[in-house]
Amino acid sequence: MARKKEEIKIRPFWYSDIWLFPKLITIITSLDKQGRVNAAPYSHIMQYDVMAKNPRMIVGFRQESHSFENICATGEFVVNCPSADYLDDMMETARFWPEGVNELDHTRFTMIPSRKVKPPSIEECPQIAECTVDQIIHLEKSSGIIIANIEAIVMDEGLADMDRAERIPAMNLPVGLGDQSRRYYYHCTTENMTMHELAEPPGGQQGGKIKMTMPWDEQGTAALMEVPVALRKMVCEQVEEFAAKKGAATVTSQHMRDMANEYGIDADLMARFE
Ligand SMILES: Cc1cc2nc3c(=O)[nH]c(=O)nc-3n(C[C@H](O)[C@H](O)[C@H](O)COP(=O)(O)O)c2cc1C
Repeated sequence: MARKKEEIKIRPFWYSDIWLFPKLITIITSLDKQGRVNAAPYSHIMQYDVMAKNPRMIVGFRQESHSFENICATGEFVVNCPSADYLDDMMETARFWPEGVNELDHTRFTMIPSRKVKPPSIEECPQIAECTVDQIIHLEKSSGIIIANIEAIVMDEGLADMDRAERIPAMNLPVGLGDQSRRYYYHCTTENMTMHELAEPPGGQQGGKIKMTMPWDEQGTAALMEVPVALRKMVCEQVEEFAAKKGAATVTSQHMRDMANEYGIDADLMARFE
């Protein structure tokens, strides 16, 4: 049955009152000019540069918030991601405590030293990003946006080696579903996650069916299969051209590496395809 649609008036706080943005929940720790700790939840947060050279995050704040004022004054903060077991404590840090109060003193959270910045990290958070300020954008009558350099990513030992299917339940990060009237905050957990495998595009090149014009050895084929499907055909053609120019009869993974070197592609990026 066709669903009737209606246009919604866009009012201030539309992003919270009407539109649903399920989000990551973080607790940002910062220091004021006197070195006093401040902590508060922030969810308006997203990766900004995915490459490893200058990894950055973008974070949105109310400009009068203590966190924003502290970060503008000191240039440093930490993004701590609590597990769902600590949702009550996270909500405690969201209360409007007076300036200079360390919200963490009213929770079960434990402060631990950060590695690259002065504000503390939170031990109970399995995933932590230590940040410095790259750019501050004051939007008129709206949020203050901070583009932050990620100085360090710190995780509970063992998490980084896990497969995603294992890491998601091990971290148990809650998903923020927004609030009603800045009072009733909704969250859910990742218990009923599902997984979908991305299908090959039509005419795609799965396994042996890929249209290669030269023989590829086993490792080379495996490396090619790790290239995202949208790029695979182009990479296949380029590596074959590269190998042919070198006078090779068979394409190997070494040709992919050599070509990447010649094109100035970062070794860490190439390692994802091996
Ligand atoms: C789950 C959750 C997410 C939040 N995300 C944001 C956010 O992204 N930006 C923001 O300005 N306020 C956000 N808030 C509200 C602030 O945490 C709240 O205003 C807090 O009192 C600010 O504290 P501060 O003045 O110590 O920085 C969020 C609150 C909760 C509970």
